[in-house]
Amino acid sequence: MRDDSAAAVDGRADRAVAEARAQRLLVIDFGSQYTQLIARRVREVGVYCEIHPFDVPEGFVAEFAPRGIILSGGPETVTEGSTPRIPDQVFAAGVPVLGICYGMHAMAAQLGGAVEASSHREFGHAEIEAEPGDALFDGLTDGGRLPVWMSHGDKVTAVPPGFAVTARTGSAPVAAMADPARRLFGVQFHPEVTHTSRGTDLVRRFARGICGCAGSWTPGHIAEEAIAAVRAQVGNDRVVLGLSGGVDSSVAAALLSRAIGDRLTCVFVDNGLLRLNEREEVEAAFASGGNALNLDLHTVDAAEEFLAALAGQDEPETKRKTIGATFIDVFQRTAERLPDVRWLGQGTIYPDVIESAASKYGKAHVIKSHHNVGGLPERMRLSLVEPLRDLFKDEVRQVGMALGLPRELVYRHPFPGPGLAVRVLGEVRREYLGVLRRADAIFLEELRRADWYDRVSQAFAVYLPVASVGVVGDARRYEHVIALRAVETTDFMTARWAELPYELVGRVSSRIMNEIAGVSRVVYDVSSKPPATIEWE
Ligand code: XMP
Repeated sequence: MRDDSAAAVDGRADRAVAEARAQRLLVIDFGSQYTQLIARRVREVGVYCEIHPFDVPEGFVAEFAPRGIILSGGPETVTEGSTPRIPDQVFAAGVPVLGICYGMHAMAAQLGGAVEASSHREFGHAEIEAEPGDALFDGLTDGGRLPVWMSHGDKVTAVPPGFAVTARTGSAPVAAMADPARRLFGVQFHPEVTHTSRGTDLVRRFARGICGCAGSWTPGHIAEEAIAAVRAQVGNDRVVLGLSGGVDSSVAAALLSRAIGDRLTCVFVDNGLLRLNEREEVEAAFASGGNALNLDLHTVDAAEEFLAALAGQDEPETKRKTIGATFIDVFQRTAERLPDVRWLGQGTIYPDVIESAASKYGKAHVIKSHHNVGGLPERMRLSLVEPLRDLFKDEVRQVGMALGLPRELVYRHPFPGPGLAVRVLGEVRREYLGVLRRADAIFLEELRRADWYDRVSQAFAVYLPVASVGVVGDARRYEHVIALRAVETTDFMTARWAELPYELVGRVSSRIMNEIAGVSRVVYDVSSKPPATIEWE
């Protein structure tokens, strides 16, 4: 039961949310893998936005009343007649429009310019040369030059009447175009990806400078909106949530708890694939009595069940599926004992959605199966409530802080649902897990001690069961390898390997080899994503 003062606070919060949300942008989706990144950049500069597909119903844009519109990229080519087009209502709205890649091509083609298919795709870093005085680029370039990220096949060969070329590269004579009178802009490159170094500034320039949005949309508003949405979705029902102690499920738990109070029950499954002391830490942070959240937490010890199910399996997708299925069994058995549960809460975040199911247009292929998406709800006849589904990791963290969660919890490195099973390559064996846990704990301890933990986005050890030679005394011994991985990223869709000091890596290596029997070699992973992923699997 919420008292009157809570309701009054909620009323004020609702009004603030509504006011901030009124200054909004519309993102029209042409199916690009980066569309959600556009939305995320817009939120990052303090502006509310929504993504809608290019075939919105007649009258939608006027009713939505955006202050500006961004047209996403897309996998198609406008040089074919059957591909998506910008609805006329976009231009009829009379608000600024920014076309990105495909969005720019469509704009050029539809407004009387020309687009041609290139013989080769331009993909990767490029540097544009911007014209001085352009509303989008002014003040953001270094003497007119700006490093950007390109990914396109077609190019604009003639700008439409009223437009001028505002930037070029060696291979793209029209890298950007603008019609300042109608406030229409097109960029060939992708300002939404972090490789475009001033990308967020460009989005800010468009959303706030050109479209005039105040920038009052905050992580607190995102949280309030999500809380209101949860209340509307679940009504007076009870919700059960699988809490892993990771950032996503913790923030989801806090949000659900704020929304529905004691109608939330959390279940923590110890799958035997956790890090050193992790179970104790999660219990201490969340268990009823003495914790800030005061959640109703049920711990289930299912380590034996998971390890037995994984025995003999060495194929990554099979391992993931086994863990997913076992998790479902265990969770279901536990949840069925709880009375009257109708909903399953999940800390699914946007990258989980895209990597599992791909975009609405089915263009991105399935990269891996995340066990935290799908399966359970059908079997348990539960409906899903996923309050973080549209958010990226760093936004989830900001929402967690806005909800008052402790910083150490919110800024914990992410840990995958299948746990250490994706970090023991091949078959998961108890003895490998024991070695990996200790190596991982040494790595994290040294990172914290050297003040590097918060400077990297994710760091962990990986167990490689390949026999590699080492010398102990006079004897040659064949033992296994530990790989260290540390990456820097903001969105986890792309990542750079972290340039840790050699001295730190050296210290971790000698501690692992001296303190843990069975490791003959420690290596450091210097691969970025793409093409490598963060986890080794
Ligand atoms: P990759 O390896 O795809 O990882 O570059 C991106 C981020 O996702 C995490 N990850 C997972 N998280 N369930 C999760 O909840 C999973 O199955 C899973 N697989 C990878 C990974 O740790 C990294 O942060």
